[in-house]
Amino acid sequence: MAGRDLASVAAEAAVCTRCELASGRTQVVFGVGSARADLMFIGEAPGRDEDLQGEPFVGRSGKLLDRLMLEELGHDRSGVYITNTTKCRPPGNRDPLPDELAACRPWLESQLEIIDPKVIVTLGNFATRLILNTREGITKMRGREHSWNGRVVVPTFHPSAALRSGGGQVLAEMRADFVRAKLAVRRAAAESVLATAR
Ligand code: URA
Repeated sequence: MAGRDLASVAAEAAVCTRCELASGRTQVVFGVGSARADLMFIGEAPGRDEDLQGEPFVGRSGKLLDRLMLEELGHDRSGVYITNTTKCRPPGNRDPLPDELAACRPWLESQLEIIDPKVIVTLGNFATRLILNTREGITKMRGREHSWNGRVVVPTFHPSAALRSGGGQVLAEMRADFVRAKLAVRRAAAESVLATAR
């Protein structure tokens, strides 16, 4: 993987046939945002809108993600990187299957290696379980930082959970997690300034 850039990995992924999802997709939804982002969001899998447009989180969940980003982090999606555990749409938006998650995982690993984000926000159970290698649910995992491979992981609810519940508590907890992520990014930036000054 050394020396590869995001565009060449994306070009390879665009013709991926490692799992059954390849046969039903309109296109691979690889990821969007800055290749130098300190903060990466990982969702579950593309839905219908994402499959048609080729960009993660462009439907209702994405609108909420954009809003939370703007209101709690103070910027739009161009300064972060957004992707999913699974790069192709599961039929009828069903959950991704274990073999699909496993087949797709190397693409996510390449993205992590190349972008090298300091902080990862996992959105919902699938991303949280995949990254933190746990069977615990999001309710138990969210609300604090976890450390993984030298990075900070901040699990939070998937935006669709906030939409389903009509906002309220879930949305308030997501806001708190986004602030947690913002502070972790700031801390990582300060630490790297200190490290280069040493
Ligand atoms: N839900 C996800 O998990 N990912 C998307 O890209 C869109 C909706």
